[in-house]
Amino acid sequence: MPVDKPILVMGAGGHFGRFIAPQLIKRGATVRGMVHHDQAEAIARSTGVKDIARADLRDESAVRRALNGVGGVFYIPPKFLPDEAEIGVRFVQLAAEAGVDRFVLSGVMYPFITDMRNHRSKLPVELALVKSGMDFTILQPTNIMQSTGAFFWDRVLETGEYVEPWAQDKKSCYVDYRDVAEVAAKALTEDGLQNGTFELTAAGTISRNDIVAMMSEALGRTITTRTMRIADWNAQNMPSDPPFLREAFIDIDLFYSRYGFPGGNDLVLRTILGREPRTMRDYIRELATTSAGI
Ligand SMILES: NC(=O)c1ccc[n+]([C@@H]2O[C@H](COP(=O)([O-])OP(=O)(O)OC[C@H]3O[C@@H](n4cnc5c(N)ncnc54)[C@H](OP(=O)(O)O)[C@@H]3O)[C@@H](O)[C@H]2O)c1
Repeated sequence: MPVDKPILVMGAGGHFGRFIAPQLIKRGATVRGMVHHDQAEAIARSTGVKDIARADLRDESAVRRALNGVGGVFYIPPKFLPDEAEIGVRFVQLAAEAGVDRFVLSGVMYPFITDMRNHRSKLPVELALVKSGMDFTILQPTNIMQSTGAFFWDRVLETGEYVEPWAQDKKSCYVDYRDVAEVAAKALTEDGLQNGTFELTAAGTISRNDIVAMMSEALGRTITTRTMRIADWNAQNMPSDPPFLREAFIDIDLFYSRYGFPGGNDLVLRTILGREPRTMRDYIRELATTSAGI
């Protein structure tokens, strides 16, 4: 697709969405960043976005204004909302009505694991996109390495512990969102990735025991882990959040503590990137030597 029309990056100031615009700008695209508050606007601007559309996803007229005149859209659903599916389906419909040519959805690997609500809420959005008439690319990232940096790293440095509620010996696969961002940008600016669904993971699976060993090696001091009861975790981390959020974490704990998050076949990501995907070991080494921003 010629990159003559602007591309709307929804979530351009979010934990993961912030990595998309720089990849698009590098490829010569004009980017409009969609954000819903001041802090996100500042982050989006710091990544090079000049055209900002302020829009809450539940405000249809603001979303229509954000979509006006764009040729491509990147969408990453806000997490753990009871109406995540409805918001996403409506966003897809509004993009189609606005005449968007190409739509990239950043969803999740295995949306069919319906016993986890953060997975099953992605399915209706995928379906709406397939029905939409737009050229679609559905990216299905596995666990995102940047979650460790965004949500846990400061506490790891402060306490010397990496604590989660799910079993520390179960193995899961991971992806660096900067690799996902590269794929998203290719899908929006080049031909070859439209009308496809792609699972994105680095190779292999690792446990939290493995991750703390990587952290210890990178930091040169011992980092330990333990498994906190989910009830204690929810009470400590989400005491006043709505029940839906705590229930979502119980879903995740039940699945991850029993199965981990199997997978780790990197064929698709390696093929699209034309290089080896970044690994968790690389990511943790970078975290240990860089203050922020990865
Ligand atoms: N964490 C993982 O390992 C992982 C793995 C695979 C898939 N995912 C999926 O990745 C997605 C994003 O995760 P996340 O932690 O970045 O979620 P998030 O913090 O909820 O944010 C997603 C984006 O939506 C924006 N947003 C939130 N509410 C909005 C609203 N009402 N109107 C407009 N924009 C709004 C956020 O902006 P602000 O940040 O500025 O509020 C952010 O840019 C989720 O759907 C999650 O299920 C996560």
